[in-house]
Amino acid sequence: MSKIVKCELYLKNISSLATCANPDGRPKAGAALLDAGEIKNGAVLVSEGKILKTGATAAIEKYLADNKIAPEKELDLSGMTVTPGFVDPHTHMAFAGSRENEFAMRVEGRSYLEILNAGGGILNTLRYVRNIDFKELYSQTAARVERAFMHGTTSMEIKSGYGLDFDAEIKTLKVCRKLAGKSPCTIVATYMGAHAIPPEYKDGRGEYIDLMINKVIPYVARHALAKFNDVFVESGVFTAQEGEKILAAGKKHGLIPKVHADEITCCGGAELAARIGAISADHLLMASDRGLEMMREKGVVAVALPGTLYSLLSKTYLDFEKLMKKGVAIALATDANPGSNMCINMQTAINQAVCLMKVPPAAAVNMATINAAHAIGIAAERGSIEAGKFADLAVLEGPSYNYTAYSYGVNHVKFVVKNGALYEVKSQLRKIWRKK
Ligand code: NIG
Ligand code: FE
Repeated sequence: MSKIVKCELYLKNISSLATCANPDGRPKAGAALLDAGEIKNGAVLVSEGKILKTGATAAIEKYLADNKIAPEKELDLSGMTVTPGFVDPHTHMAFAGSRENEFAMRVEGRSYLEILNAGGGILNTLRYVRNIDFKELYSQTAARVERAFMHGTTSMEIKSGYGLDFDAEIKTLKVCRKLAGKSPCTIVATYMGAHAIPPEYKDGRGEYIDLMINKVIPYVARHALAKFNDVFVESGVFTAQEGEKILAAGKKHGLIPKVHADEITCCGGAELAARIGAISADHLLMASDRGLEMMREKGVVAVALPGTLYSLLSKTYLDFEKLMKKGVAIALATDANPGSNMCINMQTAINQAVCLMKVPPAAAVNMATINAAHAIGIAAERGSIEAGKFADLAVLEGPSYNYTAYSYGVNHVKFVVKNGALYEVKSQLRKIWRKK
């Protein structure tokens, strides 16, 4: 007896279907990065929340007829683009307050590190996060995550790191855990106590590091509050040596290392990421060639954050071509945070990668989906449109992903599919008052 195939959702006549398929199961690097696995006039069949089949619409029509399958819901997407739901592998979404005044100070010439070392920056947000209760932090974070979802982000990583003391870090990670249960977006959490030295430990950084290692990390791991452990390795923040100690302690407890590496100065972050076996090293503008080569050897994914450099008014951006030639796998993220990039939109990140890093649009889509999924360890089940993976999709207006990259400043997402459920994204103009 042949198995009865059920199909709940059928997307057909898709002008450009970017599958971002990576059959070898490895993050895309080199020439593979330039191939988004595009199917023109494509179709996707979804069954029980997962991708059943993809291909050209004509072939899928034949498959449906041959097997007498009648999908429950059909969408004709001619003129539209479908990509895997975006994966944002680096965010600091769980925060309160905003720092537009610091942004204005940067425009006037003050630097990011100068502002941080004068008690602003991360320490500014820290005051908001420590003083807010769980419920309010949850509702502010949930609103941001929902907005990202409406812009096509179906999975994201969220870091703690604005509380820094035990209570505020645990509060933040519990917000992430509650969101993981309630939001349609897949959420993975990262403990980032090593985001800055909190003010009460200004003259006792060793003690703060001991607190993380002996108290917070074991608690976070015991209660499964995070999957990753991240350190801001930067001049005047944490040294590579301190980072190594903190990440090694996390590893002992099962937390996978990540590194904010060589963002503003070259300080051994990329080398540390390779040495410690990090899943990703992020930022990397100032990374040494040796560090990048070590990353390639160890399979560490490089996460590019062009929006951060843009918002920091940088004149230079991560050298995509160099990384590609070196064979380093590159992913893309927003770095959404109130200090260095107040932006939750992966479509914007794609536009910035293309315009500022000269990334070809096909590569930018791979970086924002399958490679981003690798950077947070979810690529076996998400990040590309391949049979057997969860049906996480972004349906965008415009005839191809080139359009997604080229037209910016508006939301192109019309539908989001998450675990097979279909969401419509609506924005409507409604006249509510007329002056007589
Ligand atoms: O990735 N570099 C450190 N952390 C964030 C910024 C956090 C903040 O300024 O609030 C980043 O850019
Ligand atoms: Fe960051």
